[in-house]
Amino acid sequence: MWFKDWSRLNKKDEQDEEGNWIKGEWLAHCDCYEQLVKQREVDKKLDLSGIPPIFSDATVRSYDVNKFKSKENQGIAAMAKKAAGNYVTNYEAMKKQGKGLYLYSKVKGSGKTRLASSIANALVKTYGIDIAFIKSGDLITQIHNTMNKTSETTRSDIIKTFRNVELLVIDDLAIKEATVFDEGIFYDITDFRLEHRKPTIFTSNVTIDELERIYPGGRVNKRIKKMALEIYMPEEPVRDDEADSENAELEKLLFR
Ligand SMILES: Nc1ncnc2c1ncn2[C@@H]1O[C@H](COP(=O)(O)OP(=O)(O)OP(=O)(O)O)[C@@H](O)[C@H]1O
Ligand SMILES: [Mg+2]
Repeated sequence: MWFKDWSRLNKKDEQDEEGNWIKGEWLAHCDCYEQLVKQREVDKKLDLSGIPPIFSDATVRSYDVNKFKSKENQGIAAMAKKAAGNYVTNYEAMKKQGKGLYLYSKVKGSGKTRLASSIANALVKTYGIDIAFIKSGDLITQIHNTMNKTSETTRSDIIKTFRNVELLVIDDLAIKEATVFDEGIFYDITDFRLEHRKPTIFTSNVTIDELERIYPGGRVNKRIKKMALEIYMPEEPVRDDEADSENAELEKLLFR
């Protein structure tokens, strides 16, 4: 195939008689080929990331502040959106410090997972980084499954993956009371990531301070406080409104 002919791909820019530079014909193809390869890498990284498919197209820009009814909540949403955008823009600085984000609202369905997904999408697209996105409950289940005799993966394989990935998103942290086992797992992962300055984004229905109630050993909450900036999301659910409007559209199809 033509793009395997690297000598043609690498044809350099040339100067005409008047000294003007003309872009090498095959170099233009080369740029295009490189872009295609980059795009495929980004798509693959997004596919493997574990970002919920429902949010695969979610962007920070399309995060709609007006979904929230009260002015106060629109203001809180606007701040969260601004912080999300600035986190992406300033990712290199955040990464140097190993800082992530902690998206919190007590209320369910206020857009935490959606905003975390849109930040993750933007980071893969902008910087081509490797991301792992996992619900805290699924992380524990994956580790329990390694105790199964037929499992080819070990507990340390799983821990290693979540310790080392460049950016980790843990969704729904502290969704229920943790066992000593669960606490040990989150300690293992957060301690390593803190020490190696690897950024982590969390979403949760409890504040960082309240984590001490869920992980009474007191080590997980202290680490997370150091490794993530807390962002308050509006205390207003938008999931129900979204379901109502989606269903109303489909009912039109069903009953017309
Ligand atoms: N600002 C927003 N703009 C557009 N859609 C939104 C926004 N906020 C939330 N949504 C939609 O609301 C629904 C619920 O959002 P999401 O699942 O992110 O909530 P959550 O806070 O993570 O809930 P939970 O606490 O139950 O995990 C999603 O379908 C999401 O697309
Ligand atoms: Mg969620």
